[in-house]
Amino acid sequence: MKRSPVALAGLLSVLACTASATTYFKETFDSATWESRWKKSSWKEPEGAAGEFKLNAGKWYGDEEMDKGIQTAIDSRFSTIYSELPQTLDTTGKDLVVQFSVKHEQDLDCGGGYLKLVPESSASQMETFGGETPYSIMFGPDICGFSTRKVHVIFTKDGKNHLIKKDIKAETDQLTHVYTLIVKPDNTYKVLIDLKEVESGSLEEDWDMVPPKKIKDPNAKKPEDWDEEEEIEDPNDKKPENWDKIEPTIPDPNAKKPEDWNEEEDGAWEPPMVPNPEFQGAWKAKKIKNPNYKGKWEAPEIDNPEYKPNPQLYAFNDLKFVGFELWQVKSGSIFDNIIVTDDFKEAEELANETWGKTKVQEKAVFTKVKEEERQAADEAAKASGTDGEGDEMGDDYDEGGYGEDMDEDMDEGEGEEEGSGHDEL
Ligand SMILES: *[C@@H]1O[C@H](CO)[C@@H](O)[C@H](O)[C@H]1NC(C)=O
Repeated sequence: MKRSPVALAGLLSVLACTASATTYFKETFDSATWESRWKKSSWKEPEGAAGEFKLNAGKWYGDEEMDKGIQTAIDSRFSTIYSELPQTLDTTGKDLVVQFSVKHEQDLDCGGGYLKLVPESSASQMETFGGETPYSIMFGPDICGFSTRKVHVIFTKDGKNHLIKKDIKAETDQLTHVYTLIVKPDNTYKVLIDLKEVESGSLEEDWDMVPPKKIKDPNAKKPEDWDEEEEIEDPNDKKPENWDKIEPTIPDPNAKKPEDWNEEEDGAWEPPMVPNPEFQGAWKAKKIKNPNYKGKWEAPEIDNPEYKPNPQLYAFNDLKFVGFELWQVKSGSIFDNIIVTDDFKEAEELANETWGKTKVQEKAVFTKVKEEERQAADEAAKASGTDGEGDEMGDDYDEGGYGEDMDEDMDEGEGEEEGSGHDEL
C-alpha cells in the first residue's frame, strides 16, 4: 500500500512527538497496588490531629473502578500522603506539566485541595511531611467560606514562597475538575481548569520572584504648582446679602398665650423659640470643577537598579516527591489522575481518557442523587408536619436545604478561624 507523503509526514511527527515526551509520574489509583507507592506521614499524629486518605470513587461517578481516587476521610484533621518520583526531576530546558483531578464531593466548606511537588532536599523530612516541609511548587484549589476560593500557584525560590499575584477562581461545586499547571523554559506559564485555559502570563511579572523591572522614581518630587484639588469653591459665587440676618431660631409662630396666663403673676408672655426653617447655617460657596486640576501626582517610572532578570525562574532541579498535606473542616475530597510530565499532550490525553469519559455520567448520577435527597427531605417534612397547617412548616424546612445549609454556616465560622492557620506560607 502506498502512503501519501502528507500522511507519512503526519505519522512521523506524531511519532517524534510521542518519543520526545517524558512522563515522570503518573497515578490513577485504580490498581490494588497504590498503597505500595503512597505513604502517610506522621505529621500531626502526636496531637491526634492526623487524618487519613482512603481509596474511594465516592457517591457519584461515571465508572466506579476508573473514578476511584484517594479521599480525605476524617473531618477537621490534617490529611497527609506522598509518593516518590522514580527519578529526581530536573526541569532545566523542559516544559513542566503538573495535573490532577479533584472532586469536593462533601461540598468543601473550608480546606485545601492542592498538591505539592517537594524537592529531594526535603527527603529526610518526608517521614513527617506536612505544612512546614519545604516544597518547590504548590498548585491547586483552596476554599474557605466565601472569601477564599482560589487556585494557588506557589513557587519556592531560595527558601522563599512566592504566591501568584493574580486571582484564579477555583471550582466550588461537587463534581470532578481537572487542574493543570504548565511552566515553560521561556518563563511563561498557563493554568487550565478542565483543560480550558483560565490564566497565563510571565513568571517574572505575575510573581515577585525577581525585583520589578520598573519602579517609581524615589527621587522624584511633586512640582510645587501641581494642583491635586479636583474641586474648588466657585470664586463667582457670592453670599446673599441677607444671609447673616437670618436667625437660627425664631419665636414659635403657632404658639398661643395660655388663656389663664396672668401677666401680673407670670410676667410678660413670650412664645417659645423654635428652629428657623429659613436658617441654612454658615454660607459656603458652590463647588465647581478646578480648571487647574492635573490629577493625582505620581512619580515617574524608572528602570529599577535592583532588577536582575533570572532566565532560570521556571527551572526546578531536584523535584522528587508528590504529596498532599491538607486541612479540611469537612472531609471527602477525592484526588485522582495525577501526572507530572514534560508534554501537555500526555496530560491532556490522560484527562481525556479519564475525566473526559466519565464526567457526563458523573453529573447525571450527581443530579439524580440530589433529586432523591430532595424528595426524601420533602417526604420527611410532610411526615413530620400535622395536617393542613403543617404544610407551612414543611416549606420552611425545604428552604433550609434539608438542614445541609445550616451545617455549612456553622462550620464556616469555625473554618475561617482555623483556616487562618494554613501554613503553606
Ligand atoms: C483530548 O480531547 C479533545 C477534545 O475531544 C481533543 O481536541 C484533543 O485532541 C484530545 N487530546 C489528546 C491528546 O488526546
